Amino acid sequence: TMPILEQCYNLMDFEHVARRVMKKTAWAYYSSGADDEITMRENHAAFHKIWFRPRILVDVENIDTSTTMLGSKTDMPFYVTATALGKLGNPEGEVLLTRGAKKHNVIQMIPTLASCSFDEIVDAAEDGQVQWLQLYVNKDREVTKRIVQHAEKRGCKGLFITVDAPQLGRREKDMRTKFQDVGSNVQSTGGNDVDRSQGAARAISSFIDPSLSWKDIPWFQSITKMPIILKGVQRVEDVIKAVEAGVQGVVLSNHGGRQLDTAPSGVEILAEVMPALRERGMQDKIEVFIDGGIRRASDIVKALCLGATGVGIGRPFLYAMSAYGLPGVDRAMQLLKDEMDMNMRLIGASKISDLNPTLVDARSLSAH
Ligand code: FNR
Repeated sequence: TMPILEQCYNLMDFEHVARRVMKKTAWAYYSSGADDEITMRENHAAFHKIWFRPRILVDVENIDTSTTMLGSKTDMPFYVTATALGKLGNPEGEVLLTRGAKKHNVIQMIPTLASCSFDEIVDAAEDGQVQWLQLYVNKDREVTKRIVQHAEKRGCKGLFITVDAPQLGRREKDMRTKFQDVGSNVQSTGGNDVDRSQGAARAISSFIDPSLSWKDIPWFQSITKMPIILKGVQRVEDVIKAVEAGVQGVVLSNHGGRQLDTAPSGVEILAEVMPALRERGMQDKIEVFIDGGIRRASDIVKALCLGATGVGIGRPFLYAMSAYGLPGVDRAMQLLKDEMDMNMRLIGASKISDLNPTLVDARSLSAH
């Protein structure tokens, strides 16, 4: 028998239910990682190498988890990251994530390859609710420009350009299901050059421009006033280049382990990046986010201690939505909030700005 919603006590529980109730093709698309899925596994495992160094006798009666990301206020230091094809998991699609995010006052990143149209997702938000746009850059720059400027006009507060996917990774689980019904599941403005033989991911991504380079960044800066964030940065040198290019943020991410297998986890890179930025006096010039494998509030707290502004969470919300619809998304966010309060209390931090590197021991990460 299937657990009822109230029997889900953590984010992993949603995954177990989703695996049993989802259509095979949908499960394959959401759960797969690239090649041997080594990076996908390491994304979560890396957090286990970081230990807390809690403070005691700090007044933690009131916990405030609110913070600011890219100039926008939010109640929680995590955001719903962009994941394509929401209707594979639930016929209502991404608008359920929008409604969950509204209830908990968290930020949602809207994917280029959403199942709902961009406008449907923006319309599902309430006034003042913060949304960002994730962009796959189309070879046809006029199409890209139209998408970006439309998003800005509709009030999006950040442009996340995905830079880790000049070619889609091999997700063999996904490929084996020989994805059939892409057309009915994507409303993308991206393009319609669909190859169905290679799984969902590859089928919908053939419009992405593999020639995208640093030289294109000034063009993006010329067409929008939204903050620009590079999503999928994987080494210190590129974070420094990003600062020099004048972008407002980076997401240290390996795309949930779906692109280059044996790429390092975001938190591993973070532990290397923040000292390098501080050394160069660049730490206030850019906001550093991470995503990948975040399943517990303790993971979030560790990332923030190491200097992240915020973290993105992908699959857990998809699984919660697929298994239980909006109530699932709501509960997943509430569980994270409860865990967050508890972790902050037990580590001896009453607000986000109290989190700092002395509260963790990250010496077991290979960067140290
Ligand atoms: C993604 N991700 C992603 N990223 C992106 O920039 N554009 C996209 O269209 C998608 N699509 C997508 C679909 C699915 C099913 C998954 C699981 C992921 C990557 C996503 O934004 C993020 O980097 C990871 O999902 C974070 O890892 P976790 O939280 O899923 O472990």
